[in-house]
Amino acid sequence: MQTNSTRQSDVFYKKSKKQVITAKVDKIYNLDVFDFLNTKVADNSVDLAVIDPPYNMKKADWDTFKNQDDFLNFTFSWINALLPKLKENSSLYIFNTSFNSAYILQFLVEQDLEFKNWIVWNKQDGISAPKNKFVNGSETILFFTKGRPVFNFDDIRQPYKNTDRMKHAAKKGIIKNGKRWFPNPNGRLCSEVWDFSSERHKNKVNGKTQKMSHLTPKPKDMIERIIKASSSKGDLVLDCFMGSGTTAVVSKKLNRNFIGCEKNKQYYKLCAINIILDE
Ligand SMILES: C[S@@+](CC[C@H](N)C(=O)[O-])C[C@H]1O[C@@H](n2cnc3c(N)ncnc32)[C@H](O)[C@@H]1O
Repeated sequence: MQTNSTRQSDVFYKKSKKQVITAKVDKIYNLDVFDFLNTKVADNSVDLAVIDPPYNMKKADWDTFKNQDDFLNFTFSWINALLPKLKENSSLYIFNTSFNSAYILQFLVEQDLEFKNWIVWNKQDGISAPKNKFVNGSETILFFTKGRPVFNFDDIRQPYKNTDRMKHAAKKGIIKNGKRWFPNPNGRLCSEVWDFSSERHKNKVNGKTQKMSHLTPKPKDMIERIIKASSSKGDLVLDCFMGSGTTAVVSKKLNRNFIGCEKNKQYYKLCAINIILDE
């Protein structure tokens, strides 16, 4: 039988064991998110977390919860497990539906993270055809920070929209607030409304949706924008719902380190294939 003192030392042992975890980088584990975060990732080690979790849209077993409370309990629990892993100066992006994002935003504010943007991803691919409301053609990406992390705004500039006006402005400038303003040759600052075609849409043949190796892969160019903006070369990027491995593939391409997990064995193998194919 355990005495109180034994139980106390067990807790101490676990705590001190946790403190000596050293993160292995450029590795994906075939683990559940909680096993992964609690046993494989050192506290205060992650520069950027790019998280595309279940949405409870019931599109697959892994995306199906008993009810909204069950889903939110799961969501807030993995966020709680993730937050100690973030460095003092770090960034966090979380994908979800706009409805779920409202709850997640509130939760993150309560954990003292700093809200930066409610990014609207215009998927250019309506996912439903309702007759009693507007078409849900977007997803939300919440951008939060801890401390003062990098934000490489120059690396994610976008082409100016009104090119004729900009051509004129490049020659003569535009008077703004009494000063002559010239457009930046690399484009405008990136807004919080993002246009990227979904992979589902890109893969359609004659307008028909095709079966893909993963149900919901995120566009690589969109993940590239996040990683370029909120990390530097050599930084550690974490994704605890790797899916097809998009975050890992893009991190590698941009010379960042990655660490992550994927619970589904088939998807875990897909990550490995995609990482190798991209070399
Ligand atoms: C939205 S998908 C991620 C897609 C990914 N961003 C991509 O570009 O391919 C979410 C993934 O989380 C995985 N997953 C769901 N529950 C999990 C859990 N408890 N632990 C780890 N992975 C989980 C699913 O198998 C699924 O592949």
